[in-house]
Amino acid sequence: MTTTLITNIGELTTNVASDGDALGALHDAAVLIVGDRIAWVGPASALDRESASGGREVGNQPASRRPPVLSPEEGVEVVDAGGRAVIPGFVDSHTHLVFGGDRADEFEARMTGTPYAAGGIRRTVGATRSASDEELRARLAGFVAELHGQGTTTFEIKTGYGLTVADEERLARLAAEVTPEVTFLGAHVVPAEYSERRDEYVELVCDAMLHACAPHSRWIDVFCERGAFTPDESRRILAAGVAHGLEPRVHGNQLGPGEGVGLAVELGAASVDHCTYLSDDDVAALAGSTTVATLLPGVEFSTRQPYPDARRLIDAGATVALASDCNPGSSFTSSMPLMIALAVREMGMSPAEAVWAATAGGAKALRRDDVGALAPGMRADLVMLDAPTRVHLAYRPGVPLVRTVWIGGAAL
Ligand code: NIG
Ligand code: FE
Repeated sequence: MTTTLITNIGELTTNVASDGDALGALHDAAVLIVGDRIAWVGPASALDRESASGGREVGNQPASRRPPVLSPEEGVEVVDAGGRAVIPGFVDSHTHLVFGGDRADEFEARMTGTPYAAGGIRRTVGATRSASDEELRARLAGFVAELHGQGTTTFEIKTGYGLTVADEERLARLAAEVTPEVTFLGAHVVPAEYSERRDEYVELVCDAMLHACAPHSRWIDVFCERGAFTPDESRRILAAGVAHGLEPRVHGNQLGPGEGVGLAVELGAASVDHCTYLSDDDVAALAGSTTVATLLPGVEFSTRQPYPDARRLIDAGATVALASDCNPGSSFTSSMPLMIALAVREMGMSPAEAVWAATAGGAKALRRDDVGALAPGMRADLVMLDAPTRVHLAYRPGVPLVRTVWIGGAAL
């Protein structure tokens, strides 16, 4: 089992709240990783005291809070962070990474005034259906490398560009090869061949498509929006998924006000994503629920829509996550640092809130308690920044600050 000690960390964001600091920052800190888990987190000076005292354990602190006893013979790899900042790996709780083709032409048209519309999804459906498994797998591998290189250590992937039983099944299967967080999104849009028979398509999603995809999936999602699925259709599809053992999440309130948020809260969904157009009732419902409001500022950036009001949600008491929504239509970026910079600059979030939302918030949106924070027993997913503080993620937008990424204790 590999043991790694990262020491001389200038600012360690643990996301373990202490003394009114939700991000539980430690300065001049160290982290010990044993195998794929965090074994100890604490002040680097505690280790010096240990060596000076001959490596004995002292005091009567709980085991996880005692400084580790390290002897050089144990083959500990020591990493000197040189005063840099270390944060938990980013948790990107919303992506659509299995698809063929791209839609750069749509983006270009949008930048000269053409509005975004849900119907563009059908173009990617065509390109995805005509791609082979090998082509999709190779593309996906490239995206996974892109995510990891930018500090994302946990990510969700949705289906939704197949929209036949066989194509949705293969997208779910290919996604499951790279993440346990697979979401069945057969209800992304009604495909062209069903445009005059939408009831039949909803039936297909609830029955044969769900049966084919459920074995590869943890989640079920619906695009509840004008131009996609109505609230009644969405409720029916999510209920079918839940009856099949999947957990619900919702795309809602992206292109205009709607019932997506209310539906998500009513069903106890883990998350409702977009939340760009919210009524006071929507905000109150989210604040009084366990449903995370996942904000996707890459979409507003790439569609020239107004950004969601994160400040309003946080002030009301809602839990906010940030995710990339990486997809070829509305947000073709996988950069969580960009999401943080946009959230801080455009959405009223403080740098600390944005970093929390991109790490611990994402973990909450995926109902994961093993990632998103750095504490004994958690997965050793960490990012060392080429900067002295996490604030630099927003302060130096567009600069590649991710220096080293550890996933399950292994440095990339
Ligand atoms: O989250 N809103 C629905 N789905 C994607 C867009 C997909 C596309 O345009 O291809 C989203 O924005
Ligand atoms: Fe999406």
